[in-house]
Amino acid sequence: MTMPHGTGWPYPPLMAHRGGGALAPENTLAGFRAAVRYGFSAAECDVKLSADQICVLMHDDTLERTSSGHGALALQPMAGLAELDAGSWLGVEFAGEPIPALANVAAYCRANQLLLNIELKPGPGQEAMTGRLVAQAAARLWAGSEVPPLLSSFSRVALLAAATAAPDLPRAWLTEAVPDDWASVLEQLGAVALHVDGQLLTRPQAAAIKAAGYGLLCYTVNDLASAQRLYQWGVDCLCTDRLDWPLAIRR
Ligand code: G3P
Ligand code: MG
Repeated sequence: MTMPHGTGWPYPPLMAHRGGGALAPENTLAGFRAAVRYGFSAAECDVKLSADQICVLMHDDTLERTSSGHGALALQPMAGLAELDAGSWLGVEFAGEPIPALANVAAYCRANQLLLNIELKPGPGQEAMTGRLVAQAAARLWAGSEVPPLLSSFSRVALLAAATAAPDLPRAWLTEAVPDDWASVLEQLGAVALHVDGQLLTRPQAAAIKAAGYGLLCYTVNDLASAQRLYQWGVDCLCTDRLDWPLAIRR
């Protein structure tokens, strides 16, 4: 495995946001299937903990927006979460699509050569526990794989806990605008990459981050003009909802 920091970026230049971007319910296996169908070789997803500490895919702290459930995800055990419908909110064709555990996603990704960026998305007060348990699960689920999952988070606490629990898994720090002290934060976290809002990144920042040998990913980039600009600035990877892009860019 080639580590990103200083020696290149082992992930492809495009990543499907929340599994299947705009074409499937977010953070579901239907999304990953769509990403593969559209020619993606990497995807991003959001992972948090159920009440019984199973690593599960969900963006929000609460269940209402993207599932048939109610209330805080962190209060529900996996058995209850698994019975919810996480697809109907987007369309009847996705009715019954379940909330997947990270283990289901690992099996799908490994069987389909889909690389994964796991965003650690802790519920309130669960930063360290989420970082530790998701990193341990990811290390076990991807053991022996050529390219490991990339762990990213806005939470420095979660990333530090992940570093202790699974030091060999690469980590990226997520931020909106790039702060002046980005280099010392990456150093402190032992991170290999910086993931930033593509609308807020400047060209000098991109140049400095790349000159320092870090991977650089921008989210969530959904227009071709921005994509072209960011690639020209040396950005390694764009996280996008536009599943039609691999073909568009090849053309
Ligand atoms: O990892 C990039 C992106 O997923 C961060 O934003 O809110 O979609 O998780 P969000
Ligand atoms: Mg995310």
